[in-house]
Amino acid sequence: ETFDVMVVGSCMTDMVSQAPRLPKAGETIHGLKFFTGFGGKGNQCVQAARLGAKTTMVCKVGKDIFGDNYIQNFKDNGVHTDFVGQTSDAATGAASIIVNNAGENAIVIVAGANMLLNRADLQEALPAITRSKVMVCQLEIHPQISLQALRMAQKNNGYNMRFARLACARLDADFYTTSDVFCCNESEAEMLTGSAVTSVEEAGEAAAELLRRGCKSVVVTLGPQGCVVLQARGSAPKHVPTAAPVTAVDTTGAGDCFIGALAFYMAHYPTMALEEMAHRANQVAGVSVQAAGTQTSFPFRADLPAALF
Ligand code: RIB
Ligand code: NA
Repeated sequence: ETFDVMVVGSCMTDMVSQAPRLPKAGETIHGLKFFTGFGGKGNQCVQAARLGAKTTMVCKVGKDIFGDNYIQNFKDNGVHTDFVGQTSDAATGAASIIVNNAGENAIVIVAGANMLLNRADLQEALPAITRSKVMVCQLEIHPQISLQALRMAQKNNGYNMRFARLACARLDADFYTTSDVFCCNESEAEMLTGSAVTSVEEAGEAAAELLRRGCKSVVVTLGPQGCVVLQARGSAPKHVPTAAPVTAVDTTGAGDCFIGALAFYMAHYPTMALEEMAHRANQVAGVSVQAAGTQTSFPFRADLPAALF
């Protein structure tokens, strides 16, 4: 079977508390609302699926109610689940999320079953890896497994576009050379380069540094300021601003929404300029920040302007 987008990554049950502000260390504050949702990097797969991509997820959940529910969630979203494993050795991953009045968040993830995704699981998915147009990897599973997935895609699929959204102070150098598009947000870019990324200009400088480490293209996302795109074949970093300012209710998962959309565009419009894909993905992510939750706020193709397709 052939897939447009394969995501190798985490599944988390999001446990979200909305509060006026984020608590300080040692402090207890009253929240306004609590809800649970489906999160983790399955977010990216679900967003790509909602735009019309044929998607498959490679991941591991626990043999528990959270895992069962997440698998059902994938099915409800049309995501292929043959490579979704269930283990009784660990619980389904969980994310405790606090969202403040400005729509900003603080998150603690307990990866649980996600850390048990292993090489044998990847091997089982190899035929699909070989025939996926885009593979997306991140770091909420064991980093070596993420890297192995990227290597398998590189070795077995010459035309495959791989891209990674990764945050980690010391990243194995092979992550750069195995990624066609390397995507990070401003704080991840800071962590990776060791230099401040607080402006479009600094994002461009960070992108140049990441490009030197071996990826073919870099996207640094900047929240309400859109993103900066830099390609090895291009010249200067290009700022891709968001179309119109929006009122943020909950920005949790906006980065995943952006990447899921980017993956969809890469698979469906392989000749489209990366800046144009990023411009469109910005607009999809802009919709998601205007509603609460992660996947609950991710738009379907039918909700979006026809000009995006
Ligand atoms: O990017 C947002 C996501 O990060 C949340 O859904 C949470 O589960 C964590 O994986
Ligand atoms: Na949202």
